[in-house]
Amino acid sequence: MTSDVIVDLAALGDDFTRDPYPVYAALRARGPVHRIRMPEGGEAWLVVGYEAGRAALADDRLSKEWRNAAPDLGVRQVSSGTTMLSSDAPDHTRLRKLVTREFTPRRMAALAPRVQEMTDGFVDAMLAAPERRADLVEALSFPLPITVICELLGVPTLDQDTFRHWSNVSVSATSLDDRLAAARSVTEYLTRLVDEKRARPGDDLMSGLIHAADEEGGDHLSHDELLGMAWLLLVAGHETTVNLISNGMLALLGHPDQLAALRADFDGLIDGAVEEMLRYDGPVETPTYRFTREPVEIAGTPVPGGGQLVLVALADADRDPARFADPDRFDIRRDARGHVAFGHGIHYCLGAPLARLEARIAVRTLLDRCPDLALDIHPAAIQWRTGMMMRGPEHLPVRW
Ligand code: HEM
Repeated sequence: MTSDVIVDLAALGDDFTRDPYPVYAALRARGPVHRIRMPEGGEAWLVVGYEAGRAALADDRLSKEWRNAAPDLGVRQVSSGTTMLSSDAPDHTRLRKLVTREFTPRRMAALAPRVQEMTDGFVDAMLAAPERRADLVEALSFPLPITVICELLGVPTLDQDTFRHWSNVSVSATSLDDRLAAARSVTEYLTRLVDEKRARPGDDLMSGLIHAADEEGGDHLSHDELLGMAWLLLVAGHETTVNLISNGMLALLGHPDQLAALRADFDGLIDGAVEEMLRYDGPVETPTYRFTREPVEIAGTPVPGGGQLVLVALADADRDPARFADPDRFDIRRDARGHVAFGHGIHYCLGAPLARLEARIAVRTLLDRCPDLALDIHPAAIQWRTGMMMRGPEHLPVRW
């Protein structure tokens, strides 16, 4: 099927932001590839369904490099520096190798006590609220991942709120001017940070990366790549995990039978529950842009070459009944492995072990410390993050 018709997702407004799943499912019923207009502006080819989505994620005829993007797409790169996520092999291979060892499951397990300590601190502060109510996003989902990634990288905690605002804006569906301005502020901020680390190196990942760059005369990790790495780890390290904790807790609190089952056998069920949270309402709705290097057929649909933008709906892949039975049901006992919430192929999420660790600790601590935790808002009234990339509530009011 070719798509001359453009599906205008921008015209669906808030309904699409609130609940994109039925829209994707209706498109999937018509075929795997559609021409769309995006809420954030510009047009793209959207891939829906599990098989087609997974194949597109691993298709090396689709480039991640912006220099391969057609000039008239109506979208622009909004980030600092050069990153592995916006590189193809061999640059991708080199950049990823530099940090892979920092994120192994073993390294992450060693972090667990510190993550627990931070979580306890945030939950203590939350439970001190005399009105026994809080916004879970403010109280835990946001501060935990950003504090963990800042500590890992060696970014002063003082600047977190400013950084959060810029980072939020740069991945939202606000105006391009606002997003570019935010990205510029992030770049200036990170440049200052790199200069400070160079002058006073610490025992952190950023200092290690700068040292690697300096030792090799700068050609191992250029200044631009260093900025890009810092930007990617900081943004990818918190914009996503915040949504895993929020979306996951929202799913649990909205399904009391599942919540009760998890409470009754936490150790036996938590790993599967986190995978199901990722599958059922994952943090990334459509991942970063891909561009056609040449004319390609995606699941039988011809897509022109010359840098056409291809978007993969991870959110729909993980709700495809051809892969997951009864996919709209949240079921922590199902085998959700094989979901694509962390992507697939060479760009598979580097931080997956860290995200899983944080989610397990956050959920356990909340359930242990708040036996009567409940939603303090009707799910239909929740305000969701705008844009097709991120999926998560702006706020998640809870009470106990
Ligand atoms: C639940 C939390 C997370 C989710 C759902 C998630 C999701 C993803 C997805 C879907 C991709 C692939 C994007 C694409 O192919 O276009 C990705 C890549 C990446 N993620 Fe995550 N992520 C999470 C947490 C993290 C954390 C905590 C970190 C780092 C500390 C991180 C670092 C990265 C990096 C560096 C890449 C690029 C990998 C590459 O290009 O080879 N992520 N992530």
